[in-house]
Amino acid sequence: MCVACEMNLEQMESFAQRMMQIINEGSLGLMISLGHRTGLFECMKTMEWATSVEIAKVANLNERYVREWLGAMAVGRIVTVDNTGKLFNLPKEHVPFLTREGGNNIAVYAQYLSVMGGVEDRLVQCFETGEGIAYEAYDRFHEVMAEDSEQTVLSSLVEDIIPLVPNGLEKLEEGISVLDVGCGSGKALLMLAEHFPNSNFEGLDLCGPPIKSAQEIAMQKELKNAIFEQTDLTNFEFERKYDLIMAFDAIHDQARPDLVLKSIHGALETNGIFLMQDIDASENVCNNLDLPLGSMLYAASCMHCMPVSLGQNGMGLGAMWGVERAGRMLTEAGFTSVKEHRLEHDVQNCYFVAHK
Ligand SMILES: C[S@@+](CC[C@H](N)C(=O)[O-])C[C@H]1O[C@@H](n2cnc3c(N)ncnc32)[C@H](O)[C@@H]1O
Repeated sequence: MCVACEMNLEQMESFAQRMMQIINEGSLGLMISLGHRTGLFECMKTMEWATSVEIAKVANLNERYVREWLGAMAVGRIVTVDNTGKLFNLPKEHVPFLTREGGNNIAVYAQYLSVMGGVEDRLVQCFETGEGIAYEAYDRFHEVMAEDSEQTVLSSLVEDIIPLVPNGLEKLEEGISVLDVGCGSGKALLMLAEHFPNSNFEGLDLCGPPIKSAQEIAMQKELKNAIFEQTDLTNFEFERKYDLIMAFDAIHDQARPDLVLKSIHGALETNGIFLMQDIDASENVCNNLDLPLGSMLYAASCMHCMPVSLGQNGMGLGAMWGVERAGRMLTEAGFTSVKEHRLEHDVQNCYFVAHK
């Protein structure tokens, strides 16, 4: 303790070190994103100890850039370097978390750092004005979201997520009508449409590019039971009814989640079910202090989820609206029984099953 300045010097020293560590790890996150996008991790997975020249050749990339990237990877202990500083290796224990092998590629999520960083200038203005940001301003958002969805949703959709809906698999086999609200690139619906040809699937989303990509894939795969339409759901009146409505990570982003939940309730058949995947956090920040991905989730909320809702003149609930508030809003929208489920593969989300 410094008596003169009344500050705990040990605490100061340890915080200074932590700040350095934050800058280091943040920078490493950006480099991991680059490694993912350039295919360097996938490439190194197939190689034994190799030089930057060999790695660059196999990856078909510029050696100078690859060498500098390898430096960051080695210092960050992502890859191992030998005593000469010339040979590099990706340890097999790291491979499942940096490549497609194993379906738990955490490098996919590192891409959000630069997606969000890309709007920093606008965010600085937003902090002053309170305005929001249009979805289109986020370069590559839908592309990264689709990759994210492949891992978080697709990997467990048929085995774990749909079975949360009472008799969900049986109903889909028999043939029901299903709507995905804020479907993005439609990965979940496309998968279900392939698996369950007797059921009909409809995906709606505000943004044109992901809807176009979903439509193209449906056409390529000749899926007659999947349609996708660009639609602003803010004040949308559904013309038809559905047996099952789903929303994956898409309600808190909406301009008016309250209105969307009400119209979802209205669009369900009498015994219809709403399956909502949304962030598993509390509306009280004190309860989120030990969340495994707490800082990342608040950052994503502040830099994307909240501004895109405000950008549509919306409520700006943000990703951290909390399961308590989500439950209340579902009840206010008219849903009767609302159950919360947690799945082992997904530490980030809560799965709500709401009955009409
Ligand atoms: C976080 S993304 C999730 C996308 C998709 N469900 C997934 O899991 O990949 C949220 C989606 O909600 C959509 N969205 C936001 N506001 C909307 C609105 N007013 N009407 C329709 N869709 C909206 C966005 O375009 C975006 O694709």
